[in-house]
Amino acid sequence: MKIISAPDYQSMSRKAANIISAQVILFPNSVLGLATGSTPLGVYQQLIEWYKKDDIDFSKVHSVNLDEYCGLSGEHEQSYRYYMNTNFFNHVNLPIENTNVPNGLAKDIDAECKRYDNVITSLGGIDLQLLGIGHTGHIGFNEPDDDFDKTTHCVKLNQKTIEANARFFENAAEVPQHALTMGIKAIMQAKKLLLVANGSSKAEVLCRSLFGPITPEVPASILQLHNDLTVVADAEALAVIR
Ligand code: F6R
Repeated sequence: MKIISAPDYQSMSRKAANIISAQVILFPNSVLGLATGSTPLGVYQQLIEWYKKDDIDFSKVHSVNLDEYCGLSGEHEQSYRYYMNTNFFNHVNLPIENTNVPNGLAKDIDAECKRYDNVITSLGGIDLQLLGIGHTGHIGFNEPDDDFDKTTHCVKLNQKTIEANARFFENAAEVPQHALTMGIKAIMQAKKLLLVANGSSKAEVLCRSLFGPITPEVPASILQLHNDLTVVADAEALAVIR
């Protein structure tokens, strides 16, 4: 595991964007695993800036996102498809047909989960997976549980997660209770993992995840077993570690 410390959010974002940029420059047809949430917004902004300067070409890239809320269409402003389109895809030359986000409106959830796992397999797996970390230690929406859930599945969101995500909705009651998420297996099979974290609210969970016992009660703790994990975090998130 490599831990790269950044003084602040902007620097964290730039360092993480540099790693993604290097991946795409070296391997133009990479499969990027992408995340939503507040943390990677600066990464996407930086990548867009470099794209506009002609420094990166996404035309051969494919992407698979980690998760999507159940019950929200891609046009809903809080859906993760909408987030990805507005914060990244609409601003770069990554062909929209190369992008994948679970379908939150799927009637047959099991079939959708299988379809999503097949998409990942048919792309040959993920080359570089970008991850954020939730206050519960979740990655994607793999919440604390008795087991590590391996494949794409539907999860009931933890109350702490609903409260954390309520800031994007009118109120907590509007946050969907369920989400579809990529499983731990696809995440762990990614060739490279890039975890970004910022802010003091992530300090304790980041420390427990990277140095505590490996347990499904702290889903991100499984990342300790990956042989190519890079963590880019700001000083506040690393405060307990350093
Ligand atoms: C979202 C995702 C989640 C977030 C996590 C942190 O696609 O995978 O695991 O990374 O909830 O969210 P923020 O960055 O908003 O603190």
